[in-house]
Amino acid sequence: VEIKVASSGGNATSGHQYGFLHEDINNSGDGGIYAELIRNRAFQFSPRYPVSLDGYRSVNDAVLTLKNLSDPLSDALPTSMNVAAGKACGIVGFLNEGFWGIDVKKQKYTGSFWVKGSYEGVFTASLQSNLTAHVFGTVEIESKASPNEWVEHEFELVPTMDAPNSNNTFALTFNPEGAADGSLDFNLISLFPPTYKGRKNGLRIDIAEALEELHPSVLRFPGGNMLEGDNNQSRWNWKDTLGPLRNRPGFQGVWGYQQTHGLGLMEYLEWAEDMNLEIAVGVWAGLALNGDITPQDKLQPFIDDALDQIEFIRGPADSKWGSRRAELGHREPFKLHYVEIGNEDWLAGGEAGWQSYQDYRFPMFQAAISAAYPDMQIIASGASSDGYEIPAPAIGDYHPYREPDQLVTEFNRFDNDVAHIVGEVAATHPNGGIGWDGDLQPFPWWIGTVGEAVSMIGYERNADRIPGVFYAPVLRNMNRWQWAVTILQFAADPAMTTRSTSWYVWELFARHAMSHTLPATSDSAFGPLYYVAGANEAAGSFIWKGAVYNTTDSADVPVSVAFEGVKAGTKAALTIITNPGGDPYGYNDPHTGVNIVDHTTYIIVSNSEGVFEFDMPELSVAVLDTDPK
Ligand code: AHR
Repeated sequence: VEIKVASSGGNATSGHQYGFLHEDINNSGDGGIYAELIRNRAFQFSPRYPVSLDGYRSVNDAVLTLKNLSDPLSDALPTSMNVAAGKACGIVGFLNEGFWGIDVKKQKYTGSFWVKGSYEGVFTASLQSNLTAHVFGTVEIESKASPNEWVEHEFELVPTMDAPNSNNTFALTFNPEGAADGSLDFNLISLFPPTYKGRKNGLRIDIAEALEELHPSVLRFPGGNMLEGDNNQSRWNWKDTLGPLRNRPGFQGVWGYQQTHGLGLMEYLEWAEDMNLEIAVGVWAGLALNGDITPQDKLQPFIDDALDQIEFIRGPADSKWGSRRAELGHREPFKLHYVEIGNEDWLAGGEAGWQSYQDYRFPMFQAAISAAYPDMQIIASGASSDGYEIPAPAIGDYHPYREPDQLVTEFNRFDNDVAHIVGEVAATHPNGGIGWDGDLQPFPWWIGTVGEAVSMIGYERNADRIPGVFYAPVLRNMNRWQWAVTILQFAADPAMTTRSTSWYVWELFARHAMSHTLPATSDSAFGPLYYVAGANEAAGSFIWKGAVYNTTDSADVPVSVAFEGVKAGTKAALTIITNPGGDPYGYNDPHTGVNIVDHTTYIIVSNSEGVFEFDMPELSVAVLDTDPK
């Protein structure tokens, strides 16, 4: 295939083409990127998830009882755990199993717990093996406990050795003889390892770094379904997620588990700031997953709430909500240019929900936000293909979870359409299967990844109208999950953190960012080779991205790329990603550590006519960049 790329023309990109959606699904927040190690740290509950001792076991026959004391730690955290001596003599306490294990290293863990009761003595906090009870690290904490008030105890714990595996627990014990009635009440028991960028209440380092290494430039949050909530009474209320942890009540998660609110709005914003990500924040739009629709005359408080949220994020420090942000330690406004009204409003409420979105919900939010923030890019939560005439200057949101063949068929989906973000995309189901009537694939798989590459090329060719493309969902805890296809998998043991086949392609495409596309012509129609060309003005380079998606013909595809103005003997970096094993269903396996992806970068030189020539194998993805850094 001969391709000629003009040196001018084309369209400017947004500068943040690739990113991801994060919502707490698959324990991707609690027990995932949020670094807290204690599961069920504050006995939070909601109508769907009753209060429980999930994650806890007693030490030395201690009796663990959940209580709602008349003077709780806070209104937000009304339930605490009473730990009383049982029949056995000696020290008592409790264990926490963590999020299915705890990674123990010779590093500083920062912990805290709240106690109420009379106790003279010490508490002992330890990290220990769940199998042998071997203690890897322990620290004694002098009691400051008081019978009349809740008292926080903070500690640091540095194990003397690395544990051989992550099958470990955290234990907290005390001597009941020092406690007035042999028992004490505990709440908000917390333990953090070192975090990403050293943030208090921060992110798990290996997961955050694996996401950062994707070179993302935009983060969509907090959902996804999580934004919508189960019903109109249980939406993700960002105001409940601010400030001290003892004031955060937790959230009735929509993916089968109670959430802590530890990863709150401020933590999302700091995450974006630490990775230098644009934000696409979703605001609640009066529709919940059960189909609850907020009537028009009841919508205004939620519009006001969205305006408060935007002011919290980017308002000046002397505004009402900007000053709350400043109080929480961030005087400077965060960057915010994208606000999405709701999530998939075409889905949950059926015809009535979708109609209400078009009739009043979207227009009311749009009018209020645009009036207050005329520069804000408003995003509607549906696509033109959902039968919606997206009211400009708003743009739409398209969520193609597809079979790989379908992603390829949709290659030119946006050649003649209005602007959208692609707010969620992934290959999820096998070709020719039963689609959503069947399960998702067990992992991102090779042909699915190449299908995604073709669709990403299609979006990038239209990057003037597709300002961002978001992989979703991104994280899966292998111990408890609801959605199998994620770009990264992990468990308590960092050795399980696995970059999927799709991770490699998204990383490659994002690493070679184009500031604008360039017109390209060819002697052949698209297929099996799909491509986009452009330039990176800051680097002064030309870039070409291509994917070969052939399911019937295994021959290599010879490619020649001529960038107008590029001379003979010019060097370029050519990275080709393949699956040498050849199995289109191959995947990277967190359990065995098998990685099927080969990604090799060659330095190639243009021929006497300034043309770059190379071959692309069956089902492969490549990027050519004349900045060979
Ligand atoms: O990414 C998983 C789910 O798929 C999202 O929560 C929702 O927006 C979509 O239907």
